[in-house]
Amino acid sequence: MTTTKKPTPYPRSPCLALTALVLLSALFFQWAFGTNKDYLWSNTKNVNRPIQYHGHGINSNFFEGWYFKLVKDNGSPSLPQNLHAMAIIVGIYRPTSESDQNGAHAFVIPLGLPGPEKVAYYRFSTDEFTDLASNVLSQDFRVQLGNSLFAHDEIVLDLPIDKFDRIPAEELESFYAVASSEYETQYQDSETSQPRKVPSGFFRDLFPSSDQLKVQEAQQPFAIKGHFRFPGKTQTPLPTSPLVPSIMGFIQYIPFLECNHGVSSLYHPIQEGRISTLDNKNTILATAIFDGGIGYTEKDWGINFPSTWVWTQTNIFKNVPGSSMLFSLASIPVLGPDATDWVKAKIPFAAPLANVPGRLMVYYHATTKTLYNFSSYMAFARIKHVGVTLNVDQRSQTLSVRATTIDPTNIFERVSLEFNVTREIGTGAPLRAPSRAKGAMVTAVEETILGHTSIKLWRVRSGEVIVEDEGIGSGLEIVGDIRWLEKRLKPWF
Ligand SMILES: *[C@@H]1O[C@H](CO)[C@@H](O)[C@H](O)[C@H]1NC(C)=O
Ligand SMILES: *[C@@H]1O[C@H](CO)[C@@H](O)[C@H](O)[C@H]1NC(C)=O
Repeated sequence: MTTTKKPTPYPRSPCLALTALVLLSALFFQWAFGTNKDYLWSNTKNVNRPIQYHGHGINSNFFEGWYFKLVKDNGSPSLPQNLHAMAIIVGIYRPTSESDQNGAHAFVIPLGLPGPEKVAYYRFSTDEFTDLASNVLSQDFRVQLGNSLFAHDEIVLDLPIDKFDRIPAEELESFYAVASSEYETQYQDSETSQPRKVPSGFFRDLFPSSDQLKVQEAQQPFAIKGHFRFPGKTQTPLPTSPLVPSIMGFIQYIPFLECNHGVSSLYHPIQEGRISTLDNKNTILATAIFDGGIGYTEKDWGINFPSTWVWTQTNIFKNVPGSSMLFSLASIPVLGPDATDWVKAKIPFAAPLANVPGRLMVYYHATTKTLYNFSSYMAFARIKHVGVTLNVDQRSQTLSVRATTIDPTNIFERVSLEFNVTREIGTGAPLRAPSRAKGAMVTAVEETILGHTSIKLWRVRSGEVIVEDEGIGSGLEIVGDIRWLEKRLKPWF
């Protein structure tokens, strides 16, 4: 007699039960002893509403921001200088201490602006921030800030001159010091043989000089008016289900994470879009038109930004238009930021376990309407390579990533995705981000929206290439200790 064993196609991970146990105990301790109960409650209550506002009833230790990327291609894809690329970020920030009422504010950061300066910061009081979608359960969000409106399908910008908040030269100076030392480290680590040794100060010199910063500091503030429409029915939201309420998958059910991520639309046409900068006499300084461009909308909320992260996003592809790629890899304090700080201080030998790299990685293939998901929470997804290299001669920085996952069209096949995103070093816009360590929003990110992406997706066994494509107008942020991310590739999480 022959017995046929039932095939078990994939091994079970013993780590999973242990992880669940650790997280459940962490949750118990957070509820019992944590100081952030409003935050835990909000995340629990809103688990199926990742796109909407989470800040009701939270008075400290919180931020939330929506990010709109708007790109108009005016030429051939090989001429990235013909791109108009903008990002508009709207958000609210509440510092760690509730008594720091000066620190709490709402803000708009437009970058890639036409006119005198590429990036600006508009600061509002938190009273001027209103959530207009507090009872909405769908993919819709709508917040008002002063006279401006930010929604899943529309932006109305009215940013008056008196809300213009000049970033001090000193703050930019210390950011450029950090950013250039990170380039320096990446340069020394680049595996490629470096053709020449760079002089000291080379990377700092890529950014505006101290004198230029002083001049900029004395420049006149400006106002902004604008209007963008991108109707809801033309958008590409991610599929959701009770188990997978957001891009973070079931991880969204952990309510004490330092930082959460949501995607509103991976791709949508901009039906109409126009933005102008204006001087103090209301004279238009410059205008950019985005009619027929392409948009992308996502958001973050939480207690703090990660200490180290990489983020990239592209949705303007040459061969398969409508497709979209999103990748984000961050250091995650697994037990929430407070408990993780405690572990680091009290049981230092356990510190390496307290921060793990977590990634979100999806590629949406427009022709077949297939979503390939390589995120860490996908049980059989694996990251194979992450690397950041500098090419000093070309003045470029490249993020290279390769990962595999199950083919969603055939569970017995695996697919591999590889991409390289390249940007010109030192040319991104300096952005403020929430910093728990400094108790304020501080300039911490060099953000590019003019990156170039090459991508390849193939079936591992047959070698069949599903897509080979080039993307432009790519967003790219690389912040913190990238070597740590490169080394800790294990898919713990
Ligand atoms: C990840 O991909 C799988 C299938 O490929 C899909 O069922 C799931 O909803 C995706 N998760 C998210 C957050 O989009
Ligand atoms: C990414 O860059 C590496 C190194 O230059 C190269 O071998 C690989 O083919 C590139 N992949 C894609 C998809 O462009």
